[in-house]
Amino acid sequence: MKLLWAVSALLLSCWRANASTAPNIIADPTEVSNQTAAMLSCNLTESSLPIKGSHWTHNGKIIDISVSKDSTPFTALHLHKITHQSAGKYECVFMTEPEVKQTIEVKTLPHVSTRKHSEHGNENDQAVLVCDSHGYPLPTDWTWAKEVDDVQTPIVNGTSDKYEIKSTPNKTTLTINNLSIESDIGDYICSGTNELGTASDKIHLRVRSRLAALWPFLGIVAEVIILVAIIFIYEKRRKPDEITDDDDSGSAPLKSNSNDNHKDKTVRQRNSN
Ligand SMILES: *[C@@H]1O[C@H](CO)[C@@H](O)[C@H](O)[C@H]1NC(C)=O
Ligand SMILES: *[C@@H]1O[C@H](CO)[C@@H](O)[C@H](O)[C@H]1NC(C)=O
Ligand SMILES: *[C@@H]1O[C@H](CO)[C@@H](O)[C@H](O)[C@H]1NC(C)=O
Repeated sequence: MKLLWAVSALLLSCWRANASTAPNIIADPTEVSNQTAAMLSCNLTESSLPIKGSHWTHNGKIIDISVSKDSTPFTALHLHKITHQSAGKYECVFMTEPEVKQTIEVKTLPHVSTRKHSEHGNENDQAVLVCDSHGYPLPTDWTWAKEVDDVQTPIVNGTSDKYEIKSTPNKTTLTINNLSIESDIGDYICSGTNELGTASDKIHLRVRSRLAALWPFLGIVAEVIILVAIIFIYEKRRKPDEITDDDDSGSAPLKSNSNDNHKDKTVRQRNSN
């Protein structure tokens, strides 16, 4: 029992000693949510380490303008305009040996957007609708709904072969199988939710009939048929001429012979005259 007390007293004193000598960064604020602007600051306290400078990082990348060679144990970063692009993990870093740093999370509503606001598919084929998310934190939940006449109907994954939803924090994909003109044309809404709320975007789906998809092909077929018909008719009309043509030019020696004959005839005729 005595030993146990001694050990715990020792541990406690070690912990106390650590706490009193360990550099500590007081971040203010500790987190930013749903604000349009903010001043982030870090105050390095209880440190006797020499400071060679400080800087800030955003999602692990050093923010150039924040790099300072100052030895003051205080640094601040002004965020003028917080958007999904500037949201993320900020870190203040004091260049001591070893480095001391502290994270401040800047959170916004998710930013949800579709790559194409209009998508089309062919009847009986499938359509793939995609929404992406940016910002911090990324959505933890994604949902899809179909909107008809301003009424939204949720699309539930896995209840039929019709729909399949695949989601990661960055992206959600809705696959609609066996497209039908009667039931699948409309607006599809993807919604991403993080701890601050929900954002969504809309995709309009058009479905073309199989025949419509065939039209260009049928057009080409029709063109070929007409072309062949024209050539055929032309050839047929040309046939009688061709026969005489062949007589004239097809056999050159014969032609000269016949010409000679002709000449002979005229000569003879002349002679006889
Ligand atoms: C940093 O923290 C110390 C101790 O809490 C305090 O005395 C000091 O005023 C702070 N510095 C700034 C610039 O806020
Ligand atoms: C939807 O269901 C499919 C197949 O059952 C599954 O692979 C997929 O992970 C599910 N998606 C979601 C978001 O639960
Ligand atoms: C999500 O996006 C982040 C930042 O763009 C990227 O680092 C990460 O690899 C992406 N995750 C997936 C699963 O694509």
